Amino acid sequence: MNNQEEKFIKVYPNSEKASLYVAGRIASLIVKKSELGQKTILGLATGATPKLVYKELIRLHQYEGLSFKTVVTFNLDEYYPMQAVDEQSYRSFMNVNLFNQVDMPSENIHIPDGTLNLEAVQAHCALYEKKIQDFGGLDLQLLGIGRTGHIGFNEPGSLVQSTTRLVHLNELTISDAIGDFGGREHVPSQAITMGIKTITQAREIILLALSQRKAEIVQKALEGTVSAAVPATYLQRFKQVEFVLDIEAASQLKGDVDSRI
Ligand code: F6R
Repeated sequence: MNNQEEKFIKVYPNSEKASLYVAGRIASLIVKKSELGQKTILGLATGATPKLVYKELIRLHQYEGLSFKTVVTFNLDEYYPMQAVDEQSYRSFMNVNLFNQVDMPSENIHIPDGTLNLEAVQAHCALYEKKIQDFGGLDLQLLGIGRTGHIGFNEPGSLVQSTTRLVHLNELTISDAIGDFGGREHVPSQAITMGIKTITQAREIILLALSQRKAEIVQKALEGTVSAAVPATYLQRFKQVEFVLDIEAASQLKGDVDSRI
């Protein structure tokens, strides 16, 4: 099935412009919902891709009065096993790159727990799903994309119906993380991740992909056949998805895009 006509793709001349656009979308949603007296429920990603988005959100907080008091967050994933205080944990990443620098109440922050015993993981994952539902579902999910086509840590083979669970990381994902961990032997081989179903139930989804490194997988994800072999292709079937790319990440797309900015 070709869903080309349903996709919404924005291509920006550089990573900064793409990131500023995404930060602006998140900020306007927070303002709009707080004016209505409502919380904003955000699904967040870690990694290199969203760093400039978070930097801009911090600037908006510090200089333009954007408050995060009404924001509730659920992160996509965490390595397993992983101590929260470890420098490489996604908890530490979020603290450094966003949470420590805005006024979000700490009880509003949710990140899968990499410290649990194996026996406790399944119940934790079920509770994570329930908490998202209890808040009324995710208003906006921010995604990056891995070179395996993963979203969250939903590696090739992940099912469209998958929910939060413990998964094994793909070898390419592990090798891409070696730099962060200082050696292959230090990279965890497992993670807890939201599932494809968890992600695609969000009311809005923005997949941000930046740099030439992502060009090949972006082409497959946006223009390839929908299949578990490239989990990001599932997003083609969901109308609430917007793909935000810089010109390098978009460089191998064959079809037309909706807007080049
Ligand atoms: C991170 C996550 C991953 C990353 C992806 C891209 O929370 O869920 O799917 O978004 O691996 O990582 P970067 O941005 O480092 O290229």
